[in-house]
Amino acid sequence: MQIKNKVMLVTGAGSGIGQALAVSAASEGASVVLCDIDSKGLEESFSIINKHYPLSKVKSYVCDVSKRQMVEELAKKVIYDFGDIDILVNNAGVASSGRVGESDYELYEWTFSVNFWGVLYMTKTFLPFLLTRPKAYIANISSVYGLVGMHSQSAYCASKFAVRGFSESLRMELYDSNITVSTVFPGGIKTNIAKNSRSATTAADQKIQERAVKIEEASFTTDPLEAAYLIIQGIKKDKTRILIGKDASQIDIISRLKPDSYYIDIIKYYENLIRSID
Ligand SMILES: NC(=O)c1ccc[n+]([C@@H]2O[C@H](COP(=O)([O-])OP(=O)(O)OC[C@H]3O[C@@H](n4cnc5c(N)ncnc54)[C@H](O)[C@@H]3O)[C@@H](O)[C@H]2O)c1
Repeated sequence: MQIKNKVMLVTGAGSGIGQALAVSAASEGASVVLCDIDSKGLEESFSIINKHYPLSKVKSYVCDVSKRQMVEELAKKVIYDFGDIDILVNNAGVASSGRVGESDYELYEWTFSVNFWGVLYMTKTFLPFLLTRPKAYIANISSVYGLVGMHSQSAYCASKFAVRGFSESLRMELYDSNITVSTVFPGGIKTNIAKNSRSATTAADQKIQERAVKIEEASFTTDPLEAAYLIIQGIKKDKTRILIGKDASQIDIISRLKPDSYYIDIIKYYENLIRSID
């Protein structure tokens, strides 16, 4: 669908992929609704758009997507301010790490509260408004960790598999409707996600966390603006599945070719990577 003159709501718009996407959407002539829990990040995104695309309508809203009531309040304000919404991008997300045995339940609850429940609250709340539009689009940001499992990432992987399952089910339900539902699978993108992540607190898990940051620095190569460009292209082409980065394509292929043994290849890949950075 076209983006020009449409209203696009982006959650997690204060940083990384969400910020890049909001700025790119404004550059395409969309009105942009910025939502984030972080007011400073929102201010930054707002001023970038205002400076470079002063003709674009943009407004920012502090909202914690993991709180249902806040999401419902957000919808009232957005519909009052913008009248309609055409494109919803459920991008807000958090990362966490820790082995299953050492991670407490709170780590899982926190990860799911944003990555899955946030997507559910936003989708259910905005669905009635999207259904009234001639054409509408929902993009849910999963991850390559919604395609494969990963050591020390069980909470994050499970939440991103949940986003994928939710999106694919919703897509079937909306098959005959005006709404296209897409799932986005980014590989490693250079953002603040690892810095803002939480981890289990044992010494072993702290080490895993430190390694995860090192691995990220060595292998997260895609720029957020490139990710935003691919998402925008995906929306324009009504794509239902958007892979971002060469690493995402490779992981997608290996998970299909070797569904029962890909994990051994991934373990070996990371062992080599860790040896090269230790
Ligand atoms: N960076 C990567 O390598 C990567 C890879 C795959 C998937 N992703 C996914 O992409 C999405 C964007 O992540 P990013 O890499 O840009 O990270 P980021 O940390 O740079 O941005 C995430 C944004 O979400 C916001 N946020 C967090 N909790 C929130 C909440 N409860 N309510 C509202 N906003 C909240 C943060 O304040 C932040 O501005 C996430 O869903 C992430 O899981 C990222």
